[in-house]
Amino acid sequence: MEKTSPSALGVEHIEAFKEILGAQYVFVDEETLNYYSHDETENLHYLPQVVVKPRTAQEVSAILKICNAHLIPVTPRGGGTGLSGGALPHLGGVLLSTERMNSILQIDERNLQVTTEPGVITEVLQEAVKEKKLFYPPDPSSRGSCFIGGNIAENSGGPKAVKYGVVKDYVLNLEMVLPTGEIIRTGSNVLKNVTGYNLTQLVVGSEGTLGIVTKIVLKLIPLPTFELLMLVPFRDLEQAGEAVSAIFRAGFTPSAMELMEINALKFVSKFVDSTAVPITDDTAAHLIIEVDGNNMDVLMSEMESIGNLLTQYDIGEIYFAEDAAQKTELWKLRRRAAEAVKSIGFTIEEDTVVPRAELPALIKGVKALGVKHDFEVVCYGHAGDGNLHVRIRKQGIPNSYGNEPMNKVLRELFELVHSLGGTISAEHGIGLIQKSFTDIVFDKANLRLMRAIKLGFDPNNILNAGKIFDLAD
Ligand code: LAC
Ligand code: ZN
Repeated sequence: MEKTSPSALGVEHIEAFKEILGAQYVFVDEETLNYYSHDETENLHYLPQVVVKPRTAQEVSAILKICNAHLIPVTPRGGGTGLSGGALPHLGGVLLSTERMNSILQIDERNLQVTTEPGVITEVLQEAVKEKKLFYPPDPSSRGSCFIGGNIAENSGGPKAVKYGVVKDYVLNLEMVLPTGEIIRTGSNVLKNVTGYNLTQLVVGSEGTLGIVTKIVLKLIPLPTFELLMLVPFRDLEQAGEAVSAIFRAGFTPSAMELMEINALKFVSKFVDSTAVPITDDTAAHLIIEVDGNNMDVLMSEMESIGNLLTQYDIGEIYFAEDAAQKTELWKLRRRAAEAVKSIGFTIEEDTVVPRAELPALIKGVKALGVKHDFEVVCYGHAGDGNLHVRIRKQGIPNSYGNEPMNKVLRELFELVHSLGGTISAEHGIGLIQKSFTDIVFDKANLRLMRAIKLGFDPNNILNAGKIFDLAD
């Protein structure tokens, strides 16, 4: 049972929000409430009672103080691209959008850092630092519309994570408003820090349950000068999985190592109307392999060596992207896979992750589950990280959330992942819709600690309550 209830919000609170923000940033009209009732998570809708759009940490603080005093549920929201329901206002109450906190405050070229507000679109931030020859690598597929604040909440990854790490590897310090309204800084703008518990890293990936981040300090690295991209067709899906760990064992660290099963490529090619990659009957999957660095000769020789290594597998002709346009086209096919399969009725993108060398066993198990339960299954994802996105489809069932037969299959999938030493989310989070599976991976002591942490930050359980876990069984 959650302590909060949507009925706690009254007209007087809405009036108070208008006083704080100005009436033009407080919304109760049907169209706005509808717009913020969903994110990219299946076809789920939960209406908030009011949408607020603060501009400053002080405004966020004033709103949270009211909500905390009156036990009003608050759901924070970034770009609305989440895939686990983290931004769904399932208890009604206040939907707090960070979209107006959208300034890049400082690019510090002396220290290779950027300070930004949470509502900046990830790609906008990446382009801004790129102009200074700096690099912020985490690049989720939704980077053209997701917010950097949402990326902090979910500890997002993306293709570059395989070489450069995920969001947590770049966050140095956060300004954050606690659910009580207090404004804190979680750390310092330094590269090393053991001054007490690491609150910064605790907040990264906490899915908007501990506070609302209002300022972010990120580490940057020098921008690599060159990148090369190739596409390798495999006749056997499991062999593609095997090749992934073989490449790393041979001493290479590609800057991207993605897998696309042939059906994923078929669906997305149709969706974006592309014929860039020929789809042949004898291809089961492709690996997309990128290397980057500052010395073109070294990169060419790396690509050649990787190509030679792959001849031990049953592969087709390797395709090299010749120019920027071809690279963009290949990445478009990979990045828009999620949208494409969603549009034709596949349920949520599962976010399984196993130790890299277990990928072939995962692929085999996933396919066997599909046959056993008579579901269509399609896989793609960040193979170099052992992070496989799995999607299932059965005619007439648009959502997995709340659907018993689907949940039975997903439970088997997650048990398989767990048995291979993996876990149930790598980069999308647990949010609302994976909550019922966490018993597979959390033990009682883990849950007790997480609940204690939650209550330490949010004693009245007002902020994104009922996400990741419930406070009581
Ligand atoms: C992807 C995102 C959606 O890999 O996780 O496409
Ligand atoms: Zn992904």
